[in-house]
Order: sequence, then structure tokens, then C-alpha cells
Amino acid sequence: MRQAGRYLPEYRAIREDVSFEELCRSPDLACEVTMQPIRRYDFDAAIIFSDILVVSDALGCEFHFPKGGPVTNSPVRSQADIDALTVSDPRESLGFVMEALKRTRAALPAHTALIGFAGAPLTVANYMVEGAASKTNALIKSMIFHEPKLAHALLSKLARMTAEYLKAQIEAGANAVQLFDTWAAIVPDSVYAEVVLPHVKFIFDALKDCGVPRIYFAKASSHLFPWIREIDAEVFGVDWTLSLDRARGLLDLGAQKPVQGNLDPIHLLGQPEQVRASVRSVLDSISDKRGYIFNLGHGIQKQTPPENVSALVEEVRAFKLGVKH
Ligand code: CP3
Repeated sequence: MRQAGRYLPEYRAIREDVSFEELCRSPDLACEVTMQPIRRYDFDAAIIFSDILVVSDALGCEFHFPKGGPVTNSPVRSQADIDALTVSDPRESLGFVMEALKRTRAALPAHTALIGFAGAPLTVANYMVEGAASKTNALIKSMIFHEPKLAHALLSKLARMTAEYLKAQIEAGANAVQLFDTWAAIVPDSVYAEVVLPHVKFIFDALKDCGVPRIYFAKASSHLFPWIREIDAEVFGVDWTLSLDRARGLLDLGAQKPVQGNLDPIHLLGQPEQVRASVRSVLDSISDKRGYIFNLGHGIQKQTPPENVSALVEEVRAFKLGVKH
């Protein structure tokens, strides 16, 4: 969850000379920035440095990141805007991501997994339609409620492009892929089931035979679990809003099917001893440790002291050693 980024001084040093967009588009720099937290912390997995909005760029709706937040000058709001978006082969239009994955896979130690990712259709559509981060999500919700045909056309273009994009990432060396659905909860459960879920399922079904674990993370969405559990994913990521045991219960997962999560990243702003205690409390909260992947419940905050991440890693590793298999 943003394991590379602004909380690391070595990332900020690179960003002094290079914009975020350039960083995403340069395979060498994206590889370097992906490796930074691995060198520091030796995490079990690296997530490729990129952004969910490169897919929007490739479709023809380009984003910039003034002061960090994404903004586009050409938001997608009409049928003509949607028709103008071109689904392409991501091996070409997003070739720089594949190149970054190849270089990173070659640079990583053999024991470190490389995770590829994309944004889920609704989450990417949210930025494309709103034109920037939005507090109310009024434009995308209005499209879904009042112009459902437009919403469907946009979400299905995104789903087709995203399925190919994740396949291409696996071909380029990703050992697992994660679909981020940060904005899944802006619509009620019935609308999620009818309008959003089919496109997510399309992506997971398209990746069925790729032979790597597929992870779905939908933020703030425990009310959606009865539908989310229908998704053919190997792993479900969960945020901090409910305990991992309850999440696993509501997702109706056997103990062998992994859940991933769910430390609130705000805990990382405390004293190192408080960080350790919060990590232990997450680890203690799972009654069956089989099939569990420790992670944050959302992206790391840029004010996080890097030494707190060291404390987190030490605490997880110490705990692992104590578990009987
Ligand atoms: O996790 C990682 O280390 C991989 C890199 C990664 C980034 N974005 C880098 C990034 C990943 C997996 C993402 C996903 C992403 N991007 C999501 C889904 C996950 C989530 O956080 O909810 C979303 C919604 C986006 C869109 C996006 N990109 C936003 C809203 C922002 C601004 C927020 C912020 O923290 O400033 C970005 C910018 C962004 N993406 C940064 C990074 C490191 C900060 C850019 C900078 O260097 O200034």
C-alpha cells in the first residue's frame, strides 16, 4: 500500500528532479523507486511503482499530478467523450510499465514476489468523470443513476483494457496482481451488484488461467461482501473497518483462502512502541493464521517516520517465527 513514496527520503530526492508522471513513464526510475523500500525493509513482496491512472492516459484521458492529486483537463462526461477513448494493446500503449516490471523482476531477490496492479473500472472511472479527486463523487454517481448506458459503456471499455493490461503485466514478470477498488462504496449494495460487480468479475475471469494469485481490494466495503465473495479471486484485501476474523466470516472464506490486511496506516504515525503494539493487535486478532497476509488497510501516509516501518516489519517477522505450522 504505497510502500514506495513520499515518506521515504530517497524517493523525495528523486522527485526533486522528476515529476510523478515522468517517474511512472521511465522504466529505469520506476524500477529504482520500486526497489527503494525493498532495500530498506526487505519486504516479502514489491509492488511495481506506477499509478492506476496510466490506464486512463492510455485510453486518451490524460492525468497530471500537481501537488500530488490527480487532475485531467479532458474529463469524460458524454457519449462522444466515451467514444473518443481508444482501447489499445497495453503491451504497446503501456509498454513502459512492462519494461519497468521486467527490469524490476530481474533486480529483485528471487525470494521477493513482484505485484502488478490496476484500478478497478469504477475507481478509475471516478477520476475520469470527476476530473479530479471529489468529495461527493456527484458526477460519476449521477452518470450511474441517470445515464446508466453511458456508465456501462465507460466501465466496459475500462474492464476490457484493464484485463489485457493485467495479463500483460503477468507476461512481463508480475508474480501476483491486485485490483484496487478504492471507490467501490460510493454506490449502494444493489447498484454495486448490478452495475459495478459484472465488470470486476469480467477482469478476474479473464485472468483465471494466468497462474498467479489475483487480489481484490475494495475499500470500506464490508456491506458488499455478500457480492464480493462471488469474485473469483485467490485473495481479498480488507481495510481496517472490521476485524480480520469478521471479514473472513462475512466473506465466507475457509481458513486456507487468504485475507490480506488490515492495519490502519495512521497507527504508523505513533511512537515505535505503539506501532509494535498495533501490529501485534492485528496479528492477535486472527484466530486462524493460515492463509493470512499482513498488510496495511490502505496507503501509507507521507508523514510516516521510516523507522516506524522498520518497527512494523520487525514485529511481523518476530511473530511469524513464533507461529507453529
Ligand atoms: O503501492 C505502491 O507503492 C505502488 C504505487 C501506487 C501509487 N498509486 C503511487 C502513487 C499505487 C498502487 C497507487 C494506486 C492508486 N492511485 C490508487 C488506489 C489505491 C489507493 O490509494 O486508494 C488510487 C486511488 C490512485 C490515484 C492517485 N494517485 C491519487 C488519489 C494520488 C494522490 C494521493 C496522494 O497520496 O498524493 C496519486 C498520486 C500517487 N500515486 C503518489 C504515489 C507515490 C504520490 C505522488 C507524488 O510523488 O507526489
